[in-house]
Amino acid sequence: MAETVEIFEMAPRDGLQNEKRLIPTAEKIALVDCLSRAGFRRIETASFVSPKWVPQMVDGAQVLAGIIRAPGVRYAALTPNLKGYEGARAAGADEVAIFASASEGFSRANLNCSIAESLDRFRAVMQAAQADEMPVRGYVSVVTDCPYDGPTPPEAVARVVAALREMGCYEVSLGDTIGQGRAETVAAMLDAVLEEMPADRLAGHFHDTAGRALENIEASLAAGLRVFDAAVGGLGGCPYAPGAKGNVATEKVAAWLAGRGYETGLDMEVIGAAAELARTMRGQGQ
Ligand code: HMG
Ligand code: MG
Repeated sequence: MAETVEIFEMAPRDGLQNEKRLIPTAEKIALVDCLSRAGFRRIETASFVSPKWVPQMVDGAQVLAGIIRAPGVRYAALTPNLKGYEGARAAGADEVAIFASASEGFSRANLNCSIAESLDRFRAVMQAAQADEMPVRGYVSVVTDCPYDGPTPPEAVARVVAALREMGCYEVSLGDTIGQGRAETVAAMLDAVLEEMPADRLAGHFHDTAGRALENIEASLAAGLRVFDAAVGGLGGCPYAPGAKGNVATEKVAAWLAGRGYETGLDMEVIGAAAELARTMRGQGQ
């Protein structure tokens, strides 16, 4: 039987957060509803961050309220602090994600605080989530390269992964935020991280800025990872990571995995339709 690899769909959150045009809520809902028919188990649907920082994500509660929930799909939301967690819970998110950085420069740019301060905030989120039995995923950004601090030492990533594991994250997603990782740097990073967390609780989150995301997924598969984040249409970018392009495209990863004999459980026709929809949402000239 073919081995399974899961794609965690990111387009409604990581995909859209960087769009300059304020996308109407109804368009976001239509995208999620289309993705709900594709066979994903998890879709990152919204984020509950400061609207001063990321105006595009201001309507997360309305998006979650408006979608038609498919059975067996978990609709996830990003939460940087307790205020965000409370918003996500009230809006009916099925799971939340806390997001830390492996470099001080990116932590400051993305969260306006040091790594240690961010972890303190996340502990408060985790405590509340555990009381609600809400699953919490963790992210670590800039796992190979940081736009502010340069190359990221693998040990710095492993330290943050260990902190998120200690806190109780059920899975940690490793973000190549600016898409500058190479198979060698990804493998070296994973060597260090696997000392702290087993491969079946890790995910790869590759932006495709340099066109190397598939090579980096291949290196991660070799290290035992079986969950990858991707966004239909290759949408995305992080507002606090200059030059960062989109997440690797879901349709590209799914086809590549199928060619290597992996089963994703995704309906390629629906993925194609969602990718088309996503592309129409993208601003002019991008
Ligand atoms: P701050 O300015 O230091 O926070 O930002 P603050 O506590 O001083 O609050 C400022 C204002 O925001 C206040 O409003 C708060 O109430 C409000 P005011 O009193 O001025 O009217 N506020 C909020 N509003 C709604 N929801 C909230 C919230 N928190 C505060 N949760 C903060 C600190 C963390 C809030 C800010 O830096 C922030 O929101 N950062 C998020 C940035 C972001 O969303 N980045 C993109 C997602 S991460 C990513 O894309 C990487 C990833 O894909 C993996 C990878 O690729 O590496 C996950
Ligand atoms: Mg990202």
